[in-house]
Amino acid sequence: RPITVIPVPFDWGASRRGAAEGPQAIILSGLERKLQQLGFSCTIESSRYLPDVLADIRSSSNMRHWGKTLSTVEALAHKTAQAVAAGQFPLVLGGDHSIAIGSIAGAAQGRQRLGVLWIDAHGDLNTPDTTPSGNIHGMSLACCLGHGDSRFVAVSGQQPKVEPDRVVLVGARQLDPGERELIRALGITCFTMHDIDRYGMANVMEKAIRIVSDGTDGVHLSFDIDSVDPGEAPGTGTRVRGGFQYREVHLAMEMLAEASIITSADIVEVNPLLDNGYRTARLAVELIASLFGERIL
Ligand code: ARG
Ligand code: MN
Ligand code: MN
Ligand code: MN
Repeated sequence: RPITVIPVPFDWGASRRGAAEGPQAIILSGLERKLQQLGFSCTIESSRYLPDVLADIRSSSNMRHWGKTLSTVEALAHKTAQAVAAGQFPLVLGGDHSIAIGSIAGAAQGRQRLGVLWIDAHGDLNTPDTTPSGNIHGMSLACCLGHGDSRFVAVSGQQPKVEPDRVVLVGARQLDPGERELIRALGITCFTMHDIDRYGMANVMEKAIRIVSDGTDGVHLSFDIDSVDPGEAPGTGTRVRGGFQYREVHLAMEMLAEASIITSADIVEVNPLLDNGYRTARLAVELIASLFGERIL
C-alpha cells in the first residue's frame, strides 16, 4: 500500500518549542529512501495544507494556544481522512502530541470501530479541568475519547473517535492524578513500564495487539518518542527516565509489522533542538522502518 507522509511542523501544544522541526529532521534522516527500500511507494506531502496560525492568539491558562492548535488539528484531520479515502497509509510526522487529535479524527472518518495503540511515557489523558500545565499535548488521548473541550472533541464531526475498550496504552511511567482516575473510570488497558519489566515487551505487545485489533476496522498507532529511554532518545521535550531500551522498542515495532494491523500512524515529539545531533530523528526513521517490515534476515 502506498504511504503518504504528512508533516505537521507544529509545537504550540507543548511547553517547549522545537518539535516543529521534527518532520524535517526525520525526512532529512532518510525516511523516503528507507521506505522505498522496503518496497513502498511513498509521497511526502508539503505542509502547505496547514493554516498560518501565527496571528491566532486565542489562548487560556488551562488550554494554552488553543486557537492555533484547533485550526491545525482540523486541517490535519482533513488531510489524514483524504489519504485514507485514497487508499493510502497516512504516516503523520509531528510535531507535538496535540496533533494526534487531528490524525485520529482523520483516521476515524469512515470507520465505525477504530482501535488506538498509544505508545508513550505519558497518558495524555488530562482535560482542561485536570491539566497541571495547560499544554494540549497532555490532553490529546482524552479528547479522542470524548473528554475535554467540546470544540476539540468535535473535530471532524464524529465523536468520540474511539471507544475506551479499543484503546491500549504501552510504556506509561508518568501519570497525573486526573489521568489515573480517567484510566480507572473508563477501564482503559494500560501496560506501564512495570508491566514491561515484569512480563517483557513481547508478552505485553501480544496482549496489546489482541485488544486493539479485536473487532476493530482499523488501528491507529500513536507513537510518542519519549516512550523510549532518554539515553537513546534525548531529543524530546518531556523526558522521563526508565523508558524502553533500543531493542525493546524495535521488537514492539517488528511485532506490529508481523501482525500487520496498523492502518495509520503518527510519530511525535521528536525535538531536534534538544537532540544530540540527529540521534533521535534517526531512531525515528529506524523505528518506522521496523514498523513497515524491515527485518534482520
Ligand atoms: N502530563 C503532563 C501534562 O499534562 C505532560 C504531558 C506530556 N505529553 C506529551 N505528549 N509529551 O502536561
Ligand atoms: Mn504523548
Ligand atoms: Mn468512526
Ligand atoms: Mn509523552
